[in-house]
Amino acid sequence: METLKAIHTRKSVREFLEADVPVDLIRLVVEAGTHAPSGGNQQPWRFVVCRDKAKQKEFDPYGHQPWVESAPAIIVVCADPHDSWRKDDEFSECYVLDASMAVQNMLLATHDLGLGSVFVQTFSPLKVRTMLGIPLHWRILGLIALGYADPESEANQQTRPRRTISEVAFLEDVEKPL
Ligand SMILES: Cc1cc2nc3c(=O)[nH]c(=O)nc-3n(C[C@H](O)[C@H](O)[C@H](O)COP(=O)(O)O)c2cc1C
Repeated sequence: METLKAIHTRKSVREFLEADVPVDLIRLVVEAGTHAPSGGNQQPWRFVVCRDKAKQKEFDPYGHQPWVESAPAIIVVCADPHDSWRKDDEFSECYVLDASMAVQNMLLATHDLGLGSVFVQTFSPLKVRTMLGIPLHWRILGLIALGYADPESEANQQTRPRRTISEVAFLEDVEKPL
């Protein structure tokens, strides 16, 4: 798929078919994540794949995000701050940006591979950490729920509106919209 087309047609998918996603396909998605840019090329991201619905149910103890349990697979996006680029007292949260870049690559990769996905930030990090044995010093930044999109789902058809370019982008100074 052409890159710009992939960017423009990707959307969050929250209703999935039961079908399992082969590990090889998930590996391709994760590999796309590892090709993201990172500060000082430190690559602080860490990814843990979970395909266990009993565990996935625990990730979202309040049941706010049913797609976390129903997704055939979850990629838990983490980062090891020890590997984060840092110089003197400059910005030290680089690992959050690095992992975010990896997330977007992975969302686009799922789309390109004919899968659907959604990034989820509402979950219990404590449960995720405990159930998957994630080391205490890693930050858990989010989950990517993925699977084959249910073509019958109305929710999956929805396209969420964007602010106009002139609202968010400016030319030379903030008085002039781009
Ligand atoms: C930082 C971040 C946190 C998000 N958290 C959630 C979430 O907890 N649950 C969820 O269903 N979607 C979540 N999303 C997905 C957004 O709701 C979605 O990307 C946005 O509404 C735009 O829709 P689109 O992805 O279909 O373009 C999150 C996205 C981002 C970038």
